[in-house]
Amino acid sequence: MSDDVKKAIFPAAGLGTRFLPATKASPKEMLPIVDKPMIQYGIEEAIACDISEFIIITGKHKRNIEDHFDYAFELEDKLKKSGKEKLLEEINRLSEINIAYIRQGYALGLGHAILCAKPFVKDEPFAVILSDDIIPSKETLLLDMIKLYRKLKSPILALERVPTHEVNRYGIISGVKERDNVFRINSLVEKPDPENAPSNMAIIGRYILTPDIFDILAKAKPGKGGEIQLTDAINQLLQKRPIYGYLFEGQRYDAGDKLGYLKATVDFALKNKELAKDFGKYLLEVARKLKH
Ligand code: G1P
Repeated sequence: MSDDVKKAIFPAAGLGTRFLPATKASPKEMLPIVDKPMIQYGIEEAIACDISEFIIITGKHKRNIEDHFDYAFELEDKLKKSGKEKLLEEINRLSEINIAYIRQGYALGLGHAILCAKPFVKDEPFAVILSDDIIPSKETLLLDMIKLYRKLKSPILALERVPTHEVNRYGIISGVKERDNVFRINSLVEKPDPENAPSNMAIIGRYILTPDIFDILAKAKPGKGGEIQLTDAINQLLQKRPIYGYLFEGQRYDAGDKLGYLKATVDFALKNKELAKDFGKYLLEVARKLKH
């Protein structure tokens, strides 16, 4: 058993209603940002943090997530024969990742999705990655959180300051600053109305959790939106142990939202060697037209 963070859970059983009709029969997690599905960015981020075991919580219409991370013999053969070695290597790399899948029969909420991973996580600390929060690879958020976990041996939540009118889209914390970007959390509330929010510090989609959350989740009652909320369970865990927030000040895209998704697509395309020049030119043309 590891006392370090070696496992990551990727909840991917949501209904993706914000992206309908695109997500009617295919998962939101497979929507591409340029040429990679959203979930692959999250998996690569975890690999860069030395996480070696991945658990994806899937649901209906999610089978192509499994296919994406599986061998594709026909395609591999074709790439080999046509000498596309680099692409072949990239495709093969995906199939070598150690991923377990758990199917969440009903979309009962994020808390319930995490509970489904209990048999795989057992007694170890683990990361939770919500793959529609895209964090560019130059950022070290997850690694910084893991390092902080090693020191504090307590759950760590990623936080970001959001505008007041957006607090109803997030779990919001109240807490006391301990040092630099580290806050000791006093309470959490899921998607409060702006007028009742304890702060504007929002939980974003990266968590380091400890296995004692499972007992609380197992007994949890539905909260906001009739769903089993992870935020409520963490709030309860506060009665037993300290929990910390790590305030992230780098770049994050809320790609679960259409505007955030488009922003991520544009920025990633502008960083892509093959596309940057021509796409940049095109964007300037568009901007010029918008001005008129
Ligand atoms: C979930 C959590 C919320 C958190 C958010 C981060 O909400 O329930 O507390 O702030 O992720 O992205 P969702 O985006 O699934 O509605």
